[in-house]
Amino acid sequence: MDRFRLDVHASEQDIVGNIAEDVRKGLTSAQKYLLPKYFYDELGSQLFEQITEQPEYYPTRTERSLLSSSARELMERVHPREMVELGSGSSYKTRVLLDAASQNGGLPRYVPFDVSPSIIESSAAALLNEYPTLDIHGVVGDFERHLPEVPPAGGRRLVLFLGSTIGNLRLDERRSLLQQIKLLLDTGDRLLLGVDLVKDVATLEAAYNDEAGVTAEFNLNVLRVINKALGADFRLEEFRHNAHYNHDEARIEMHLMPRSHQTVSIKDLDLTIEFTPEETIHTENSHKFTRETTGSLLEEAGLCLDHWYTDPDNMFGLALAAARP
Ligand code: AVJ
Repeated sequence: MDRFRLDVHASEQDIVGNIAEDVRKGLTSAQKYLLPKYFYDELGSQLFEQITEQPEYYPTRTERSLLSSSARELMERVHPREMVELGSGSSYKTRVLLDAASQNGGLPRYVPFDVSPSIIESSAAALLNEYPTLDIHGVVGDFERHLPEVPPAGGRRLVLFLGSTIGNLRLDERRSLLQQIKLLLDTGDRLLLGVDLVKDVATLEAAYNDEAGVTAEFNLNVLRVINKALGADFRLEEFRHNAHYNHDEARIEMHLMPRSHQTVSIKDLDLTIEFTPEETIHTENSHKFTRETTGSLLEEAGLCLDHWYTDPDNMFGLALAAARP
């Protein structure tokens, strides 16, 4: 009996997309920008892991402890027969939920959905071993395009979209993703959505300006990614990390600020670009939410907020949502 199956709906190539076109478009725009998905090459992924361990970066550890303290109540409330996890990445959170489910009779099926086949394979190998009755049906895809490929439900379903990953998306992208997720939800099914919350600016800004400089290194690494992928000659020491809270948009913005006037050539694009200290490259948005803004976002996508979990200091929220009939 095979307990593991992997459906591949997109190659790594597909998913990384057209870095050439994305970089050309981003760096020739009036406000220069780069897409946050390009942070995550091997080094970038390691740097992100390190960010989550910094004392100032509260979201990951707060979400974890919130999951630990809510998992039992959540499982009793939902009684899922399968969990679909979007951007399954770290399986620590998955284990917390699987453990809680096993006190409730166990959960027969886990459906990790990720852009990286190797992440699914390695986490599946460990989970199959630790949970001897669990079946795993992995799906490799881009959650903005391949959600319809999630296999038909094997019973009541809990969809997980954790880590405030939704905060990286623009409003139109958040809406369309949630509309897609709604299509995965039948009566009784639920979505558990992790969102980082609006809070005092000092705490928010510190989380993206850690003392050890790991977030700065992570931000600058995107230039290294472009140097490698497109034969560019960005000098990382000529750029400075900047992360600040934009009140009007309720988001942390990360930028790279040129230290001097300079020219960068991107060989594979046949492009040279001028940088001046006044013109930043906008590299990431990390939107922050409240219970109210999360509720309206869900409503706009045809979902409704069914239960709200938060920590005592209101740092992070877990929204449990259902499809509106
Ligand atoms: C993985 C998108 C949730 O926005 O906080 C961390 C990424 N960027 N530090 C976030 C990130 C800089 C992170 N997310």
